[in-house]
Amino acid sequence: MLEQQKQPINSYRIAPMLGWTTRHYRYFFRLICKKALLYTEMLTTGAILNSPQRDRLLGFDVSEKTLAIQLGGSSASDLSQAARIVEAYGYSEINLNVGCPSDRVQSGCFGAVLFKDPRRVADCIAEMSAVVKLPISVKTRIGVDDYESYDYLAQFIQQVHLAGCQTFIIHARKAWLSGLSPKENRVIPPLNYDWVYRIKQDFPYLTIVLNGGIAGISIAQKHLQQVDGVMIGRAAWYNPYLFSELDQQLSPQDSVAVPSRLSIVLAYLPYLEQALMSGENLTHLIQPLFGLFHGVAGGRRWRQKLSETLQQMDNPILGIQSILREIVPNA
Ligand SMILES: Cc1cc2nc3c(=O)[nH]c(=O)nc-3n(C[C@H](O)[C@H](O)[C@H](O)COP(=O)(O)O)c2cc1C
Repeated sequence: MLEQQKQPINSYRIAPMLGWTTRHYRYFFRLICKKALLYTEMLTTGAILNSPQRDRLLGFDVSEKTLAIQLGGSSASDLSQAARIVEAYGYSEINLNVGCPSDRVQSGCFGAVLFKDPRRVADCIAEMSAVVKLPISVKTRIGVDDYESYDYLAQFIQQVHLAGCQTFIIHARKAWLSGLSPKENRVIPPLNYDWVYRIKQDFPYLTIVLNGGIAGISIAQKHLQQVDGVMIGRAAWYNPYLFSELDQQLSPQDSVAVPSRLSIVLAYLPYLEQALMSGENLTHLIQPLFGLFHGVAGGRRWRQKLSETLQQMDNPILGIQSILREIVPNA
């Protein structure tokens, strides 16, 4: 606990996850935890530069802050134009995706394939840094295909750092660009935390954030003895309530109360109602709620009933209130 107090506020980060860390999820997550740094899903430069609905793509609720935006792209000029645009929206950090192995991303020549071209990544960082004041970070794997030695990783970090990047989020597994699906690439290549620890030792002046396979706060705390930050992905989706005590742990002096699951849902309902009225999709709005009762009595029933509510759709608010009464005694 004492060690936690000394850590900077961004020691915990929630990973960018396409289709999962949507605006709705981020609003919901903030009802649980204020201190973890949130990331958007990856947004491609093409979408940012060409979208007819830019505000819808880039806008966010002020409660989502502190919020970083993840960009997918490999053209330094497109990335710098996109960086300029997103800076005006009030994000706190720009992150470049050098870790996503999906086919769609590879055909656009960005994501993990960029790991093989540090010079291009460095150019992208340099051009973005020249036009915005925001800090620019890179999220990378420890290796891609046959580019998988510690020395290569260290050289990659060094070259990209010299172009202006101070913060590296390192997913501690390599990616195979052919043969494995993105999902398999998050499970099959073995985790190698030692290389990430070693990067921190070799580059003590950089902010090094470890990502991959972190299932809970106590495990995260162990990693935090070796690195500056941790980034948590799937666990934050499947079990978001994991983070309910984090604000208190990070700032015990603020005496923040740990929110109950019930209070979280009740605080989310007005948002859900408002968003439905603005035409948002009910499924997208309800999805973040599924994991809330993970691992506690009634959790299965909660998920089952939420699915039923989605199918019926007549009055989702009343539906959720009635499930709450069933799951949470005296709700
Ligand atoms: C559904 C899903 C979507 C993801 N989308 C992205 C993405 O848009 N950008 C990215 O850098 N990583 C993406 N990832 C990878 C995560 O950010 C993270 O690196 C990975 O899940 C490992 O962390 P974890 O073991 O804590 O889940 C995604 C992961 C999942 C499960």
